[in-house]
Amino acid sequence: MAMFGKKKSESSSSAKGMSPIGKDLSFAASEAYKLLRTNLFFSVPPGDVGRVVGITSSVRGEGKSTTTINLAYALAVSGKRVALIECDMRLPVLATRLEIDPTPGLSNLLAGLSAARDVLRESGLHKNLKVVPAGDVPPNPSELLGSDRMKLITETLVQEFDFVFVDLPPIMAVSDALVASSFLDAMIVVVRQDVCTRGMLRETMRQLSVVGDKVIGFVFTCARAEKRSYYYRRKYYRYGGSYGYGYGYGYGYGSSHHRSRSDKSGEGSTSDANH
Ligand SMILES: Nc1ncnc2c1ncn2[C@@H]1O[C@H](COP(=O)(O)OP(=O)(O)OP(=O)(O)O)[C@@H](O)[C@H]1O
Ligand SMILES: [Mg+2]
Repeated sequence: MAMFGKKKSESSSSAKGMSPIGKDLSFAASEAYKLLRTNLFFSVPPGDVGRVVGITSSVRGEGKSTTTINLAYALAVSGKRVALIECDMRLPVLATRLEIDPTPGLSNLLAGLSAARDVLRESGLHKNLKVVPAGDVPPNPSELLGSDRMKLITETLVQEFDFVFVDLPPIMAVSDALVASSFLDAMIVVVRQDVCTRGMLRETMRQLSVVGDKVIGFVFTCARAEKRSYYYRRKYYRYGGSYGYGYGYGYGYGSSHHRSRSDKSGEGSTSDANH
């Protein structure tokens, strides 16, 4: 099934009051996302067909959407063809962040109300990065995400793109991210300092392990060195400054099959940078 993009905006600036995205990122933040990109290659190397990678967190507002957009952008800049699907149909932000039309989107496609060529759009950030915004808020997001149609959409996209990123709702809020596990190759968990507690993360990992061990790593957001606890220090490494993006994979949460794919020579390596 061929899909076509429709450019809605030339703007690459981030929405007012939100953290920067795309080419508006600071040098340090941009380098951190490049390191995250490298670590992703170690965990899920590009293959004959693309990879479907979900991004979730424990609770709301930990930086999932920002991380998804910037990681997708970092890959697009490196020459990979990337699709970003906004699967958080309850609280969509992608259209606002990218300054594109919010509809039609994923919900419209899943409901059979729109065609694929109408919902897959230019991101306005990079020509290699296409996006599918969430669309109209549906009454039954979980059911839509668990439908055969959703599986078909991702199966189709991986034929055309090297990576398909899926921006998900948080684990502890709704079941959507757990439902989405069935069509993901890998999952990244965003952890925001002062928001996600150790107990929350433990519960998140427990729930994710029930639906399959797909977690390949963590992105640590808004980290301040002086506030970082031992719990985090032993898992993440960072260079000083006010805020951080961190990434590392595996870290004692099961033995993901993704790690064995690349022998994980970089296991334990992390990246981090500041705004
Ligand atoms: N690494 C970061 N450093 C500083 N601020 C950030 C970072 N990532 C996200 N933010 C800010 O935190 C807020 C929430 O970010 P974002 O929308 O990406 O989170 P989210 O996890 O997707 O939220 P939701 O659960 O509501 O979908 C935004 O104001 C964003 O600009
Ligand atoms: Mg979000």
